[in-house]
Amino acid sequence: MSWRAEILTLFPGMFPGPLGHSLAGRALETGLWSLGTHDLRDHGLGRHRSVDDVPFGGGAGMVLRPDVLDAGIAAMAAGDLPLVVLTPRGRPLGQPDVARFAAGPGLRVICGRFEGMDQRVLDAHAAEEISIGDYVLSGGEPAALVLLDAVVRLLPGVMGSAESGRDESFADGLLEYPHYTRPAEWCGRAVPEVLLSGNHAAIAAWRRAASEAITAARRPDLWALHCRSVTPTLAGAPAAP
Ligand code: ADE
Repeated sequence: MSWRAEILTLFPGMFPGPLGHSLAGRALETGLWSLGTHDLRDHGLGRHRSVDDVPFGGGAGMVLRPDVLDAGIAAMAAGDLPLVVLTPRGRPLGQPDVARFAAGPGLRVICGRFEGMDQRVLDAHAAEEISIGDYVLSGGEPAALVLLDAVVRLLPGVMGSAESGRDESFADGLLEYPHYTRPAEWCGRAVPEVLLSGNHAAIAAWRRAASEAITAARRPDLWALHCRSVTPTLAGAPAAP
């Protein structure tokens, strides 16, 4: 059985979208993962197939109804897959979460819309609320595409060995070092000398130091975590570009 994604959304036409292309698209075609979409509107109430209502306690915006959401969740096949809700209120998504999801059998994903979802249905299903960053999208669909892209590329057979063998940002808690290719000089800018030296130990040391310098400059949060777990080799590191 391949890895399975079940999506509950008001906009099923947004899927597979970008996931139908490139690595994820090829993997979808060859059956390395599969995708099912479910239209929440199918479970809407009344003539207008209404899915939302005004918030108790007042305030702007509309809230997705628990009964409608519950019917949508029930309609998703593979009811035993972990249930994830994309919402700016969620825990921030990190690469360890992505690896955890990729190691499992698949995910059921609810894409939020409007002001939010009735909390009771999320609690009743022990849904994991996840955010892809500290900004507000108009809905959870682009966030679901981001989540699935990150997970699918980790599934066995999706990445070629050239891609999967690469040192990646976050794999060891550091951002990746900068990359260079031919020509060795471009518009008066030279590639760092050491990369042309053929000295593999020196290249590895330079890359490590560059990763540390970039992480320290751009992501003080990651850098502080890194410094707690290992002794950095920052001395002699190039300035972060
Ligand atoms: N829906 C709206 N904004 C979001 C975000 N930042 N992450 C996940 N889902 C969202």
